[in-house]
Amino acid sequence: MYKPKKFDTDNFLSSLDLKKEEILYLLELAKNFKDKQSSFKVKDKVLGLIFDKASTRTRVSFQVAMSRLGSNVIEINRNTSQIGRGEPIKDTARVLSRYCDALAIRTFKQVDLVEYAKWFKKPVINALTDLEHPCQALADFLTIKEEFGGFKNIILTFIGDGNNVANSLIFTGALLGVEVRIACPKGFEPKTSIIKRANEINPNNSLKIFHDPSIAVKGANVLYTDVWSSMGEESESSIKDKNFEGFTVNQDLINRANNDPIVLHCLPAYRGKEITDQVIEGKNSRIFNQAENRLHTQQALLACLLS
Ligand code: CP
Ligand code: NVA
Repeated sequence: MYKPKKFDTDNFLSSLDLKKEEILYLLELAKNFKDKQSSFKVKDKVLGLIFDKASTRTRVSFQVAMSRLGSNVIEINRNTSQIGRGEPIKDTARVLSRYCDALAIRTFKQVDLVEYAKWFKKPVINALTDLEHPCQALADFLTIKEEFGGFKNIILTFIGDGNNVANSLIFTGALLGVEVRIACPKGFEPKTSIIKRANEINPNNSLKIFHDPSIAVKGANVLYTDVWSSMGEESESSIKDKNFEGFTVNQDLINRANNDPIVLHCLPAYRGKEITDQVIEGKNSRIFNQAENRLHTQQALLACLLS
């Protein structure tokens, strides 16, 4: 049985904050929680949730994870707190440090998250920014591990926008030695800095960018997609929809992988755009197991950061 252990990092702002061994340990601990082999508690702690964007999975899974650990959550709403009035982050964060034991923050700019972490003297967790979604990637790789037993020779093809979810898959994949392929229209690749950093971590050329999804999926074990327009990009959605024509994950694309791949989506999905209804409900889909794994991986993350 795995017990929570102290990580080298106090925060989880980026997928790169954890080392390979720490991620592997966290996934085992998460599996222990999932299989009810651990009833470890972190008593009487309070996690503050600051969500500047909508959320179902992340918000509720953090709440339930804290409850299962014997601890509490407080929601700090931008509109009913002084955050919406524009109180500086350095003031809010220092005050919340006196009340809360950790913060999970969903916001737009990564620099704002980093500013919270600078002034809040306890763990800060990235619950999604425009740049990364590291908690999502932990659940994704637990789902892959459950399916394939490990990560050796696994090829993950992400079909969609070079966005926050793609970035955290790229980083976690690089740390775990998983071949990650991104299939996107020209102009929608992940940032050069993300690609450069992933190649530094894993120089074995395991990150590849494609513009033709049917080539990118060949031999893949995992097909992954996400919305074409992320939260905050709503005004660009009709242009992006046109750019992404031909990038829908459908049964034909699954067949082209020629490897009976599993299909993942972080949700929420726009059925009929980035993925068909048939694929979400089909036999290759592990999407709802993936969503469940948000709870177990975040419970493991909180247990380690709070104990
Ligand atoms: N996947 C994910 O983060 O979902 P929510 O936006 O519902 O939290
Ligand atoms: N890329 C999406 C993920 C939602 C969980 C977004 O940022 O809106």
